[in-house]
Amino acid sequence: MSFDTSRTAEEPAASNPRPATAAADDGRIRVRDLLGPRDRHAELARDVREGLSRPHKEIPPKYFYDARGSDLFERITCLPEYYLTRAETEILERCAADIVADVSPHVLVEYGSGSSRKTRLLLDAMRRRRLLAGYAPVDVSEEALRAAAARLMAEYPELTVTLVIADFDAPVDLSFAGRPRLVAFLGSTIGNFVPETAGEFVKSIAAQLDDGDGFLVGFDLVKDVRELEAAYNDAAGITAQFNKNVLRVLNRELSADFDIESFRHLAFYDAERTRIEMHLASERDQVVVIGDLSMEVDFRAGESIRTELSHKFTREAAERVMACGGLRLHRWETDREERFALALAERG
Ligand code: SAH
Ligand code: TRP
Repeated sequence: MSFDTSRTAEEPAASNPRPATAAADDGRIRVRDLLGPRDRHAELARDVREGLSRPHKEIPPKYFYDARGSDLFERITCLPEYYLTRAETEILERCAADIVADVSPHVLVEYGSGSSRKTRLLLDAMRRRRLLAGYAPVDVSEEALRAAAARLMAEYPELTVTLVIADFDAPVDLSFAGRPRLVAFLGSTIGNFVPETAGEFVKSIAAQLDDGDGFLVGFDLVKDVRELEAAYNDAAGITAQFNKNVLRVLNRELSADFDIESFRHLAFYDAERTRIEMHLASERDQVVVIGDLSMEVDFRAGESIRTELSHKFTREAAERVMACGGLRLHRWETDREERFALALAERG
């Protein structure tokens, strides 16, 4: 997945906010759709053609997250093996007030917000200090954004929510959002970039921070391989369903004919690169037809498509990523078992 800065030029320049459909939100939900429907299909087509033509086949992870994929991910966060969400929640419960006191943000911008569940801990801390004015979740999943916003409206009567439907593989223009701002990127989603891309991403965020603004990032930490592999190979098989969901997306959106049950979920730790790799491995020799691409894709038995990387960090590795944007760690908080960390960074 490339952090292609040239792509911003093709995006509709900061399209006009339009009100959400007839919801009883008193105009408190605004929508900035930076992904046109035509662009979306064309980009999926391009990414899949390119990714499945490589010697080691790949599909970018953002295509997991249709409505079903977002629901499956929510189920992953509740699994006994998936410690990440619980560990990050524990840190936020302990430290959200301090983080908010450090930055005094009026606006919270959140990348890859999904259900915005953990976000409430930050919003609550902002509310307690009477700072809370705006929340801007940024996500590719319009369904997840709308569902999360509808729930937040009832709970936060003072809050204006600006849904930003956007792909953060390219820089997202945050000039619409007020200041001081806290930009959050939770869930160790930063680990889903390769390190160079993570650095580019941080740089693009840093360019949109003023002195006194904060960047809060969740990092999953290097740990015992068994604990890591269990988190991505749950006994109930939800992660396998989530992984295979991307093939359903391709069948539906590109008229492909993947026989989903002939692909096996595979997740393993690469200790040298300190990352989990997720794959879908073909159980047999087969040819898959992708109708919209007029493309036939050959699979040998055992050959796989890489669908996700999830990098694990040390404090030093996290500092290095932040330094790519000239950001310095202001706070580093871990859960009691030191499985996960939240880093608050500011301009150096
Ligand atoms: N923050 C939540 C969800 C993490 S899952 C949590 O910590 O539990 C990752 C989220 O990032 C999903 O909601 C997915 O839709 C979104 N996402 C993944 N790739 C994206 C991309 N390239 N651009 C925008 N959003 C993306
Ligand atoms: N950011 C999450 C992570 O790296 C995303 C994730 C969790 C995920 N489980 C997954 C992605 C399973 C693909 C498949 O942990």
